[in-house]
Amino acid sequence: MNETVINKYTSNHFKKMKSEGKKICMVTAYDYAMARCVQTSDIDLILVGDSLGMVVLGYENTLSVTIEDMIHHTTAVRRGAPNSFIISDMPYMSYHLNLEQTKINAAKLIVEGGADAVKLEGGSESRLAAISAILDCQIPVCAHIGLTPQSIRIFGGYKVQGKTPQAYSRLLKQAVALEETGAFMLVLEGVPEALGKDIANTLNIPVIGIGAGRFVDGQVLVINDLLGYSDIVPKFVKIYASLDKVIVDALNQYCAEVREKVFPDENNVYYPINKEE
Ligand code: KIV
Repeated sequence: MNETVINKYTSNHFKKMKSEGKKICMVTAYDYAMARCVQTSDIDLILVGDSLGMVVLGYENTLSVTIEDMIHHTTAVRRGAPNSFIISDMPYMSYHLNLEQTKINAAKLIVEGGADAVKLEGGSESRLAAISAILDCQIPVCAHIGLTPQSIRIFGGYKVQGKTPQAYSRLLKQAVALEETGAFMLVLEGVPEALGKDIANTLNIPVIGIGAGRFVDGQVLVINDLLGYSDIVPKFVKIYASLDKVIVDALNQYCAEVREKVFPDENNVYYPINKEE
């Protein structure tokens, strides 16, 4: 990153929003073009999610996404949204091996990628240690628990979490521990609405839900899902546009006009020859 980036907000802004009862709106973005649109909208902050592995790169899950992928896409999003608060996802195995590697990878997302904060999945003791190590590098951390996609091999698929009393209280305890460790925000994914409400009421930091019901402090969605620009859309998503259709219709019209010699017409012709020269 060469240019100086002046962010509109710091991580404290979102805690203030929660204390004022203002709902927080977050979406993912993965490239320059979409980030430009997001920054122009009323969205409060952007997540460069490792969901990019699925919705942009076409992988079956998020496990193949690398730190290089995340840096590459985070720099593009930063170029498109120079004034937005951007969280960048730490991909699978970038914070699992040891604390030194964890700190280096988090710092890469900030220094090379231009993110304002990082996000990592899980609430176990080792995740708390990873978060402390990253905070020690002065990097704000967003936690993420519930149906964490990097754990699908353990969960046996994309299954709602926190349904049994034991799982419910384990997630509640993890949420408290994550706040105590210093996370500035918690993404809560794929849990019963009652648990979302309980965690949001218990914590002072904002709880951003995705498939976590109505009573959390804000919502996050994968942008391709909400825009109808995606092949597999989870049940909890509301689709606000039909980009797939808009794109295919436009492409078909373009093809028809080329074949019928309607495009290009005189308005689309570059550099008319100056007859006098
Ligand atoms: O990777 C991602 O997009 C995410 C959101 C779904 C929360 O982690």
